[in-house]
Formats: sequence, structure tokens, C-alpha cells
Amino acid sequence: MAEIGRSIVKMDVNELLNLLNKALSDEWLAYYQYWVGAKVVKGPMKDAVISELQLHATEELGHAELLAIRIIQLGGVPVLSPAEWLKITNCGYDAPVDHYVEVVLNQNIKGEQCAIQTYNKLLDITREADPVTYNIVLQIITDEVEHEEDLAALKEDLQLMLMRGK
Ligand SMILES: [Fe+2]
Ligand SMILES: [Fe+2]
Repeated sequence: MAEIGRSIVKMDVNELLNLLNKALSDEWLAYYQYWVGAKVVKGPMKDAVISELQLHATEELGHAELLAIRIIQLGGVPVLSPAEWLKITNCGYDAPVDHYVEVVLNQNIKGEQCAIQTYNKLLDITREADPVTYNIVLQIITDEVEHEEDLAALKEDLQLMLMRGK
């Protein structure tokens, strides 16, 4: 364990580890929501939506990686069981039961908005207390803002196409 690295954290490390494991659970759930969404999605612009969902899935997994590495650096243990994800998640899981593109896009937009709010709170908490975690969270939230924007742009294109395409 990085003893000095841990000692420079100016907040309760266990509380921070708890928040990081909650975010890690969000990332795995987001990963699967995108991954399975890309498999089942149907409707106009399906191909473009699938590509975007696949890309986001990969990036959520990258976020899980960053969080797990930081948790271990801080002397913690990354959440060990998928059953825990649903118990400690901030943003939950929205199963894409309805496979229509717009519904899937809306579910994932909602997820990104929750992720942005969650990471924004983590930025506030770590800004002064733990610049290393702050830097990681900053990288992640930058992606989440881009994800929301990408999905919103796809939804806009879809609506334009449906309005004018006939
Ligand atoms: Fe993420
Ligand atoms: Fe995201």
C-alpha cells in the first residue's frame, strides 16, 4: 500500500473509498447497459447508435479501471461482487426492455446525467482534499459530458430524420 501516498489525503480515506466503490459500481452497470443496449437496439439509425453505444461501453470500462486502480492505491478493495453493484450504485440500472432506439438513447442520456452529477460532487469533495483522485475524476467527468452530448446529438438527428424523412 502506498503509505505516504495515502497519508497526503486530507479527508477520511474510508469515506473516500466508499464513494469510489459506489462510482465503480455505477461504471460496471453503465458498461453493461451500453453493452447489452448495443446488442438489442432496433429502429432508424440503428448502426450509428450501435457504434456509439459500443464506444461508450468501452470507455465506461476504462473508467472502472481508473477507479479500481485508485481504490487499491488508497489501500481499499474494489467491490468484489456484482450483487453489490445494485446495492451501492448512485445511478442504478435501466434495463433496455423496450429496444426502440429513442427509448434506449433516453435511458442512457439519463444515466450520463446522473454520472455527471455524481462526479461533480466527487470533484467538490476531492478538490482540496485529494488532488490525485480529483485528477482522475476530472478525466472521467470529461468523458461523461462528451457521452451526454453524443447521445443528445444522435437523438436530435433521429428526431429530424423522422420529422423530415417522409
Ligand atoms: Fe463512466
Ligand atoms: Fe458515460
